[in-house]
Formats: sequence, C-alpha cells, structure tokens
Amino acid sequence: MTTTVRTRVAIVGAGPAGLLLSHLLAEAGIESIVVDQRTRDEIESTIRAGILEQGTVDLLAQIPGSRVHTVGTRHDGIELRFDGHGHRIDFPGLVGRSVWLYPQHEALKDLIAARLAGGQDLRFGVTVHRVEGAETDRPSVFATTADGEDLQLEADFVVGADGSRSNVRVAVAGSHTGGYFREYPFAWFGILCEAPASSEELIYSNSPDGFALISQRSATVQRMYFQCDPDADPQALSEAEIWDTLQNRVPGTTLTEGPIFQRDVLRFRSFVAHELRRGRVAIVGDAAHTVPPTGAKGMNLAVADVILLAQALESLLTRGDGGLIDGWAEKALRRIWKAQHFSWWMTSMLHVAPDASDFDRLRQLGELRSVVESEAGRTYLAEAYTGWPLEP
Ligand code: PHB
Repeated sequence: MTTTVRTRVAIVGAGPAGLLLSHLLAEAGIESIVVDQRTRDEIESTIRAGILEQGTVDLLAQIPGSRVHTVGTRHDGIELRFDGHGHRIDFPGLVGRSVWLYPQHEALKDLIAARLAGGQDLRFGVTVHRVEGAETDRPSVFATTADGEDLQLEADFVVGADGSRSNVRVAVAGSHTGGYFREYPFAWFGILCEAPASSEELIYSNSPDGFALISQRSATVQRMYFQCDPDADPQALSEAEIWDTLQNRVPGTTLTEGPIFQRDVLRFRSFVAHELRRGRVAIVGDAAHTVPPTGAKGMNLAVADVILLAQALESLLTRGDGGLIDGWAEKALRRIWKAQHFSWWMTSMLHVAPDASDFDRLRQLGELRSVVESEAGRTYLAEAYTGWPLEP
C-alpha cells in the first residue's frame, strides 16, 4: 500500500541546500516536506568542511538559535605557501570581506533544530527511487520510508538537494551522469586529529612533492590534507608517515601533532549537470554540480542556488508568475561556472600533476608569483574566495 502525501514543495535531501530552502520557503509562507535517506544522527555527526562566504554567514545567522557567530570563527585571510615562503592574502584589506570557518555539521544541527521547532515536516530514513511528472503541474516523488512503506509525495514543485549521487537528477538531466565533467589525476589524503591549531589561518601549500592544506575544525580538532594518488589506501600509512608527509609539504611551519582519529581519501572532480531544471523539478547544490575542494566553494554555491530558487518559487507559487523560474537555471549557472573556474584554477595552480615536466613546475611558480606579487592578482583570489555578491 502506498501512502500519498500532498505538499507544495517536496525537497529531497536534508543537507544545507534542502534545509535552507525549506526555511526560506517557510518565511515566504510556502509549506514543504523534506526527506532524507540518512538518519538525523548520521547527518549531524559527519564532520565536513565549512568555509562560509559572508553572504552564507549572514543567511545562517538569521536562523533562530544559529551558533554561526559564537561557534564559528572569522578568518581574515589565508596563506599561500610556495618555494619555501608564505604569502598572506588579506581579505578585508583587498575586498572588505572575510570568510567564516563553521563546520557544515554544526550548521546542519542548527538548521535541523530550527526547522523542527518551526513545525517543518522533516522525515529521515526515506529512500527516494524516482520523480515523475516533471512536465506536469503535479510532479511526484516515489520513495520508501524507514519502516519499509511506499510513500508518494505529490507536490507543486520538486527540488533535488540530494547530493552528488542524486536520484532526482535523472528526472532533470535524463541520467545520473548527464553533465559536463572533468577528473583530476590526484586526490586528497585527509586527517582529523586531536591537537591545537598549528596556524591561525589556513595554509594552502605548494611543495615540490605536492600540495598540502592545513585547516581546522575547532580549538582542539584539526583537519589537514595532502595530495595523494586517487587509488591510495587510507590505511596504508602509519601515523608517523602521515606526519612526515605533512611536515615535509609545509616547510617553514612546524605542525603540532596529535592522535589521528579519522583518515580518508577524497577523490575530486568538477561536474555541472547538463540541465538544472525540467518543468517543475529542479536540482541544487551537489546534485547539480561538484567542485574540487581547493576553492572551498561547495556549500556556498549550494546556498546561492537556493536563495535564487526560493525567490523564483515564491513568485511561481504565490503569484503564479513563472518569469523567475524560467530564468533561474541560467542565472544560477553564471555563478556556478565562475566558481567552477575558480576551483579548477586554485586546484591546478597548487597541485603537482603526476606528469609535470620541469617546464610545468617552473611555470607554476611563475603563476603563483604573478598572483601574490600583484594587487590585482591577490584581489581576484580574495574576491572569489570570499564570494561574489548575488546578482540582483
Ligand atoms: C576543510 O577544512 O576541510 C577545507 C578548508 C578549505 C578548503 C577545503 C577544505 O579549501
């Protein structure tokens, strides 16, 4: 037996994009249901990155009970390190903006608590199989609940915020893989360790043996990465070997070591779906696009998609005006491709390709110098990293 539930907007995915969208829609008086395959605990305990642009922080700060300003920390710059020297990119000095470090799972805890307190219908453990009726006024989501019951969500509009393995994407782009994409011949070996921060700001380091990033999660937990082979086995290195690799890749800084409690290999790729909307179904965030993590753009891009989509849905569903939704994908794609470029550029400028020749290596140092030694170069980086303003 199938239970059918009516809603105005069916949102698949309770990550930052889906939850923020339900919040913005509720503010506009539009009711929605959010479903996610994962349990609440899984969503809230997966430790993920969170470099937030000013616009993202301003939006999160409006969520009742948000801890973004108390638990998050403002970062006024990053360091680019190469050829044994560090170069600070001073964000406020260059563009009058900063970024905030607020791990994604902390933002998700705030969002889930606020949405539930606001009476949001939010269902965990729901597996979505397919979406039908994109070209009609009544698109539907077909799913199975945590108890194994069939569930149909019949809506005015369906949004897939269901991550890089999106099932909703099939209803929009025609297949799971329908998109523009690029793979990279390297990955990141990431660790979480219990230690105080080794540096106040993030260090993006290019060294002859490859890239490393020194990031943070809190005063007592640090996140660090080093470039590795995409097929590397995260269990193959001892803790001592991991620390040797990291120390060697950030010459000039002595990293404070501590017990490593998580390790993973993150493959990366750039992806943009061929279509972001078909009729009354749209995809946002990682369901629509993936960026390599070097530019810290992932969550911010998802938020920008959703801000634009909420405006378009308000126009469509409360005033019957389809003008904004018709232009939504094109508008969102302008920012998405700028962020794709920035993420690709930071990645290729800082990593050492496995087949790099001496020419490539020296050219790369020339590129890094032309960025840090030029105010225009530093300004481009600061502008993109802290986030472009949303177009009106
Ligand atoms: C992270 O802390 O995981 C992180 C920070 C900055 C990036 C990517 C990842 O560019």
